Amino acid sequence: MILPIVIHPNSILRQKAKEVEFKEIKSYEVKKLILNMKETVEFSNGIGLAAPQVGHSLRIVVIFLEDKKIALINPRIISFSWRKKKDEEGCLSIPGKFGLVKRSKIIKVKALDENGKEIKFKAKDIFARVIQHEVDHLDGVLFIDKAEKILEDNAQKI
Ligand code: CO
Repeated sequence: MILPIVIHPNSILRQKAKEVEFKEIKSYEVKKLILNMKETVEFSNGIGLAAPQVGHSLRIVVIFLEDKKIALINPRIISFSWRKKKDEEGCLSIPGKFGLVKRSKIIKVKALDENGKEIKFKAKDIFARVIQHEVDHLDGVLFIDKAEKILEDNAQKI
């Protein structure tokens, strides 16, 4: 099911999202939410989506890159490379705007997968950028808070 996307300014986008409890991970509600988030990000031509963007203040994100289509539950970035890169960013919740945002090129991430299994991995470049953008969403932070300048255009939506 395609879910409606919450548009900025909406207070849910500014809340700190709640951790998903282990016993909830396999619940029908969480499984359905993840499935719907995947359908929604694909339908919207996005490359990432965080649960608060579909009205659920929970620490769940989906990443939808060509070679990586994954859901992360309670993701935590445990290290950030000192090397950073500025690149264009947009957001499904802030349509028509983009800006240059400086992000770490490489990060290490710890999260639970859809089965509740703990995973730890390294991400770089666009994969690292999307995860940093989505984890910011879980903390109520939007790319416009970090962007060097905001321009109106059709940027990649994450
Ligand atoms: Co976004």
